[in-house]
Amino acid sequence: MAGVLIDDGDILLFDEPLAALDPASGHQSIALIDELHQQLHNTVIIIEHRIEDVLTRPVDRVILMAKGKIVADLKPDALLRSNELQQIGLREPLYIEALRYAGCDLNHIDHIDNVNALNAEVLAPALQSWQANATVPVTIQSGEPLLDVRQLSFCYENGPQIFHDFDLTINRGDMLALVGRNGVGKSTLSQIITGFLTPSAGTLTYHDGHTDIDLAKLSVKERADKIGYIMQDPNQMISQVMIRDEVALGLRLRGVDEAAIKQRVDDTLKICGLYPFRNWPINALSFGQRKRVTIASILVLQPELLILDEPTAGQDWRHYTDMMTFLEQLNQQGITMMFITHDMHLMLEYANRTVVLGDQGVMLDAKPSTVLSNPTVVSAAALAPTSLYQLAERVHIDPDAFTQHVIATERKVRR
Ligand SMILES: Nc1ncnc2c1ncn2[C@@H]1O[C@H](COP(=O)(O)OP(=O)(O)OP(=O)(O)O)[C@@H](O)[C@H]1O
Ligand SMILES: [Mg+2]
Repeated sequence: MAGVLIDDGDILLFDEPLAALDPASGHQSIALIDELHQQLHNTVIIIEHRIEDVLTRPVDRVILMAKGKIVADLKPDALLRSNELQQIGLREPLYIEALRYAGCDLNHIDHIDNVNALNAEVLAPALQSWQANATVPVTIQSGEPLLDVRQLSFCYENGPQIFHDFDLTINRGDMLALVGRNGVGKSTLSQIITGFLTPSAGTLTYHDGHTDIDLAKLSVKERADKIGYIMQDPNQMISQVMIRDEVALGLRLRGVDEAAIKQRVDDTLKICGLYPFRNWPINALSFGQRKRVTIASILVLQPELLILDEPTAGQDWRHYTDMMTFLEQLNQQGITMMFITHDMHLMLEYANRTVVLGDQGVMLDAKPSTVLSNPTVVSAAALAPTSLYQLAERVHIDPDAFTQHVIATERKVRR
């Protein structure tokens, strides 16, 4: 940004400035853009999927595009009262969704574009009576330990100490969200587990039925048979021209015979919804579809544990929901998952357990909603409560229970 500002241009165009930022940095970045706009009086255009975060600062117009056309050009309050976002498969701000579920008439709500300016007294009765119908969610029990990380230490060459005496257990069947501020070491941890990086101390023990395996004794390739790792950027993983070859690559490297490869690749492509594209070149696919190809190329090796680095970053809500529903199904079929995310709602909606990584190791290991109800952890880990928390607090409903109810309703609506 500093580099661009030197040129003193009249228009500043930001293409997904928030993608891959932790929630607190996301809010700071939008605030910074707003301050620049006030100081420089230039025209600012922001392209974003994180609509809710952008709207935390005043925006003059929101333009929606679909199929090469502008389908809406509105002020934020008019946009939020309409259902234009829903119609093209984009996510509305969470508090707007909640107000709709509770049957509030959005046309008669003042300051609809700012959750902190809503008239709490007027909205409280409807929200409270909606909340009174909430059912208690079932909690999922964790399984046996699958991977034990013990007393891990790691330091990049000439870099900072990232882990010191670090412990973590991933349990069988977990759908675990790994969160924490930018640069805290989430990707580094994934790369230590998969063997791309070697720790200076500590053990990684993988529990394979009744046998305990010391991962240090396995090569990267052998580990990949058990633990699949999907990088944030699919383009960093893809090396083949055709989809079928990309998905088959791991099996070819392992010397599997071609007939078996064909069968397993076909099966996996079907599971991933890519079978119709099987003979396409990869460069004809969108970012989200490529992400699926990389997942397919890992799944075909039948790992028991999948580590996904920001599986939904840079994707619109429809693709995000497709991706997460797909991962949820895999989890229900018995694959253990750990996913890294900066999206707090995604964590609330899909994880059964959240591990918050801080500078001193695991800061908190708890149910996702418990994490966001802890202000100390939220601020130390650069997380942010969602707008559902703000809305619930303003109308005196327990934020945790309210969020659970919104999530449960959303799932019902989606199905
Ligand atoms: N190859 C490297 N050499 C030296 N330092 C590195 C290297 N890769 C990462 N780091 C540093 O290690 C720390 C942890 O990085 P890491 O990529 O694991 O963070 P992260 O939690 O995944 O962050 P993000 O949320 O931004 O993806 C950062 O401070 C980073 O600057
Ligand atoms: Mg990372």
